[in-house]
Parts: sequence; C-alpha cells; structure tokens
Amino acid sequence: MSKKVNEWLKELTLEEKASLCSGKDFWTTQDIERLGIPSIMVTDGPHGLRKQAGESDHLGLNESIKTTCFPSGVSLASSWDRDLLEEVGKALGEESQSEDVSVLLGPGVNIKRSPLCGRNFEYFSEDPYLSSQIAKHHILGVQSQGVGTSIKHFAANNQEYKRMNVDTIVDERTLREIYLASFETAIKEAKPWTVMSAYNKLNGVYCSDNHRLLTEILRDEWGYEGLVISDWGAEDDRIQGIKAGMDLEMPGNGGRNDQKIVDAVNNSDLSGEALDKVVARVLDLAYKGSEKQNQVTYDKKEHDDLAKKVASECMVLLKNDHDILPLSSDQKIAVLGELAVASRYQGGGSSHINPTYLHSALDSLQALGNISYAKGYNLSEDQVDDKLVDHALELVHSNDLVVIFAGLPERYESEGYDRSHMSIPENQLDLIDRVSQVSDKVVVVLANGSPIEMPWVDQVQGLLEGYLGGQAGGAAIADILYGHVNPSGKLAETFPIKMKDNPSSLNFPGKETKVMYQEGIFVGYRYYEAKEMKTLFSFGHGLSYTSFEYSNLSLDKDQINDTEFVTLSVDIKNTGNRLGKEVVQVYVKEMNPIVIRPEKELKEFVKVELKPGQIKTVTFKLSKRAFAYYNVDIKDWHVATGDFKLMVGSSVDQIHLERLINVTSTQVIKKVYTRNTSLDELKDHPVGKAMVDQVVGKIAEMMGGSGVIQGDALEGFIASLTLRNLLMFGGMSETELEGLIYQLNQ
Ligand code: BGC
Repeated sequence: MSKKVNEWLKELTLEEKASLCSGKDFWTTQDIERLGIPSIMVTDGPHGLRKQAGESDHLGLNESIKTTCFPSGVSLASSWDRDLLEEVGKALGEESQSEDVSVLLGPGVNIKRSPLCGRNFEYFSEDPYLSSQIAKHHILGVQSQGVGTSIKHFAANNQEYKRMNVDTIVDERTLREIYLASFETAIKEAKPWTVMSAYNKLNGVYCSDNHRLLTEILRDEWGYEGLVISDWGAEDDRIQGIKAGMDLEMPGNGGRNDQKIVDAVNNSDLSGEALDKVVARVLDLAYKGSEKQNQVTYDKKEHDDLAKKVASECMVLLKNDHDILPLSSDQKIAVLGELAVASRYQGGGSSHINPTYLHSALDSLQALGNISYAKGYNLSEDQVDDKLVDHALELVHSNDLVVIFAGLPERYESEGYDRSHMSIPENQLDLIDRVSQVSDKVVVVLANGSPIEMPWVDQVQGLLEGYLGGQAGGAAIADILYGHVNPSGKLAETFPIKMKDNPSSLNFPGKETKVMYQEGIFVGYRYYEAKEMKTLFSFGHGLSYTSFEYSNLSLDKDQINDTEFVTLSVDIKNTGNRLGKEVVQVYVKEMNPIVIRPEKELKEFVKVELKPGQIKTVTFKLSKRAFAYYNVDIKDWHVATGDFKLMVGSSVDQIHLERLINVTSTQVIKKVYTRNTSLDELKDHPVGKAMVDQVVGKIAEMMGGSGVIQGDALEGFIASLTLRNLLMFGGMSETELEGLIYQLNQ
C-alpha cells in the first residue's frame, strides 16, 4: 500500500469510504474531489477494448469506439504460444493506455466443462494447466503497459443458464484440481490487478459474498494482494460481500448500498477494519490506475497486422487427406457458403468489439487465387434453399476443388445463454452433404466458438478450424489455405463425436438452479482417455503441412524427491520440406495411485519453430505440482511416493515417447488407524504388515485349506476386512484389538 493510499484512508469520512465501495457509473470508479482521489475507467475485454463513448451496457448492445479485435479466447488458446499471448496483451495494453482505460476486464479462464456453454468462445480450455498458462501471459502482456487486468469469472462459472443464481455444487478436490487451478497459477505468477467474482453461487454461497473463496483461498492461501471486483450486478448482499473481501461493486448504482454500509458500521454489524481493508484496495487501484503514461498512441494498421499474424497461429488444421491443402494458385476453386462473406470473427455479449478493419475471407482468397463464389445457404435461417444449393452445385462442377465455409451463426452462441445441441444449421448440413456427394475434393472451413458435431466428417477431405479469428481472421484463413502460412494451432479442447459423449452431459445445465459437477475431475480429455472413448478430434490435435519426428527423450534423474525437479529433454525434427511449428506436449500419469487419478494430465508444453531438416532439443522442468493431486484430508497438494509415467506427444492421443520416474514424498502424513481402518491400508506399516500376514494365514486355514479362496481372491477378501473384523476372523479380543490399534498409531 503506498504512502498516498494511507494518507487518503486517514482523511476519508465513513460516508466517503462507503461511496468508494461501488462504481461511480457503468465503467468508472468513484472519485473524491476534496482529497484528489481520482476516478479510473475499466472496460471489457478480453480480446479487444470495448470502450463505450455513448450509452453504456454490458451486453455489447451499444456501440463502442473502434479498436483492434484480436481472435477470441478459444482461438488464442489454440496457439499454445505463451510469447504470442504476451504480444497480444501488450497491444491491448497500448490500446487501453491510448484510450485512457486503466483496467481491461479479462481474461476469462472458466473451464470448458461442456461444449454447450454459450461463452466458451471467450474461455481458453478444458484443461486448467493450459488455461492458466495462456491467461498468465495475456495478463503479463497487458500489465507490462501499466494497465491492469481482471481475471474472470471467479469461480466455477461454467454455464450461462441461470448464471445469476445457479448454485454450482462441486467437490473440493475437483474444485482445486480443475476449476480453481485455471486461476491459481495466473493469479500467483502474473498478479492481475483485479479478480472478478462470478455471478453464480459456489457450494451454496454467492461467489461475491464468499469469504472462503475471496479471502481464505484467494488471499490467505494464494497471497493475492490486488482487488476483487464484482461481475456486473453479481453482488447480492453488500455487507456480506465486504466481510467476504469483495472490494468494488460494479457497475455503479447511484450509491444504493452506501447508507447500508454506513449503518452496518454504526451498529457494529460491520467492523471498521473490514471496511478499511476494502477501501484501501479500491484506493490502491485508483492510485495505480491513474498513473497513466503520457500520450500513448498506437498504429491501427500495425495492430491489424498483428491480429492477422495471431489469427494464423491459432487456426487448427483438423484433417488433410491426400494433402488436399494447401491450395495452389492455378487451381480453380469454388468457395461456397455465406460465412465466407459474412465472416463470424467474434462472439456476442460483453466482449463484442467494434473493429478497426475487417478482412473477409472471400476477398482475401480472391487476392490469392482463382475463386468463384456461391452463397449456398442463408446464414440468417436454418431451412434449405434449393435454388442456392443448385447454384452452388453448378460451381462445384465447373471448378477443381471446393471450399465450404460453415459453422455456427451468431444467434447460436453468445454470452447470456447456452446452446441446446452441437449441430450446425440444417441448410449447412445439406450443402456439405450434397456437395460431397458429387466431389471428392472438398475442404470445410469452420467458424464457431465451441465444438460442433460433424456427421459429415468422413465425406470431406480437408478441414480447417478457423474458430473466431478476430478482425483479420478472414485474411489468416486465406494465408493458411494457400500455404503462405503453415498451420500450427492445436485444439485446446476435445471435439466429442456427439454431445452425449461429453462427461457433463447428464448434469448440464442442472435443474432447479442447482448444477452438480458429478463427473468430478474427469472433465474433457481426462474423461475420454479414462473411458478409452473415441473422439472426433482429440485435445492437443492439430496438423501441419510439414511433419515432425520425436526422439531422444531423456531425464536428468530417474528418481526425485517432491522438493526437487526433473529436467526432461526431447529432440524434435522437421522431417518435411516446409518451415513449420510443432506444439510439444508433456502428459503425466501416476502408475499406482491410491486415489483415483486421470490417465493423462497435461503438465507442460512448448511451441517450437523448425526449418526443413532442422532438429531442436526442447527441455522442460517438472516439479512437485506436476505429480501432485489435491489431498482433501491434509488440505494441500500431495505427491504419493511412487512411479510416474512422463509422456511426450503431439496430442493427448498421439504419444511418441515415454519414460518412468520415481517421486518420493517428503511430506509426512500422519495416518490415524481406527477400528474401521481396512487391512489393506496396513500393507506398508511395519507392525501392520506382520499382523496382516498372520491373519491371512489364519483365514486361509479357516477356509479349510480348500484352496477355493487363494491368490487374488484371497487378497480381495482381506482388503474388504477392517481391523474390527479381526474380532470375528482373527480370533482377537477387544483388549487385544485396542492394544494393536494403539501400537499402530505410535
Ligand atoms: C460479464 C463480464 C463483463 C461485464 C462488464 C458481465 O455481464 O459477465 O464478463 O466483464 O459484464 O461488461
């Protein structure tokens, strides 16, 4: 806390303090003129600046000033490129500085629990490690320019349905390993100026009134020193919110809660210290936020070029049979589908940006090749228009190859509501179907913010996931299709074959304002891998116009303690004849876990660029957290001593190399033995083991030496017994049993 903030705090009256606890209006904080306390501006976020000069709203309804629209979160994460995210963040910071905005409201890091969440386009991944890494570098980039961020929506806000009052019921381990983990690293390592508390309830308590979430976990455990801002209208009980550590209520509401705060302090329902803590953080933000750099400007064209470069790093080549791509300029190409012209390049709602330029895919393609175009379907409706299809089919016959633009119309996905299915409109399905019946040279380019079902996938030869690529997305698509850029994006989420395959599908979006996260930690690929389930496209998947070879995986140690780290290195070679980039992914599996653990968990990744024939050695350092699970008994991350498999691959289901490592825990967990402890929990106990052996002998004898129960069966039988059962099977007396339990606990 700066000296200035302390001075201000001393001078403020109770009424002034109360007024600082909420905004002045939609986008600014309260100023106190008499003390020179400034007001600062915050605006959305996350992939562009949505500064409204005229009427304010938080749904993206009213127009904002023109700024660069970078690719949406779903795209950015598919780059798997930390440096690129910092570059984007830096550009966003420059634009914020130049528009006098102090805090950019993003990034959004909620986990993609279901492909149906209407806001998935804004979020990064189904995997918390990837999501938090991407967020961290986004934040570092923005904040390097002296502009704050607001990591959101804290926490477990994974659907839009009833987002204002749904109660998310999630068990502690799942919360820590999946939903909070997506925030944790970014918050600890990038220190966002603000954290935005979510609309929903978490295990019965509104996130904005949640002391456990906002104080015990965020501040006491994670050491967060910044400010908590409420999502717009998320605060339910302002006094409870202050007690919980929710500092700034947004948007401003004409001081509706000010008197309540004053009264609460006066009648001792709220302590002056609790209020001061909140006010000090608001003052600190105002102080930091008002220290603007002078006269920052940015070059709109340069940022547009950056938006194009970024978009081309994010798109994912999902399929490329017989190397149908890249196109060559002497091929005659039929481009079909209204989405080629009316590009979808961002999602709807509060993140909606008014772009500085807009590159249509069709124009960009026409600049590079021999293109004819037919609309094929009406984007504004779902019904088939036979005339449009017939015209499209004529073009198919008179050209060498077809590129169909398909995807989700804007009305299908947005902030504020979820999808109810994963299909694209009927008229697009029909077009793909009829075209692919008469041509075996069909490429589909997708525009969507979240996975779709593709019953037609085997009927087409090429497939580019363009996602929502921002204002220059159309130009990036053309560059990739014509091979001016070699695609290098990888999926940050799984595409299931059908909606029902998704682990959340039985409990999404919940009933009666409650949603139970019953799939637990088995979110996304963690589930498909565990079930050995076929998916349409797996997590981490993405093709290139060149090929890569993995070799020489080595570890600097084959045994470590959980206080040490292991260095893993692997050689990657570009075996094709084009410059390309590969995302090398490291997954970890515990071999004999005592708790249920996923088959694979992403723990590291890096994107490397390689010239044809070039080999690079990449290295990773893995430490405790890569091997640990969240142990709810000790309320901490814990590595159980044992073997772990390290897998290096180009996607979760394309593992090329693997090695084992043994990790020894240095954490002593004092186990308490009771009458109801299972016998198999004593296997590693010096006293317990001898006792178990003895009982096994007795039981085998009791079974009459018949040999019916032996080997695995006997082991299973013993495992089902508890110490208490020794009274019956082990011929023990109560006193002997008590003595044994005493001994075990020494
Ligand atoms: C959204 C936030 C956004 C805020 C301000 C809310 O409805 O959930 O993500 O930052 O509005 O527009």
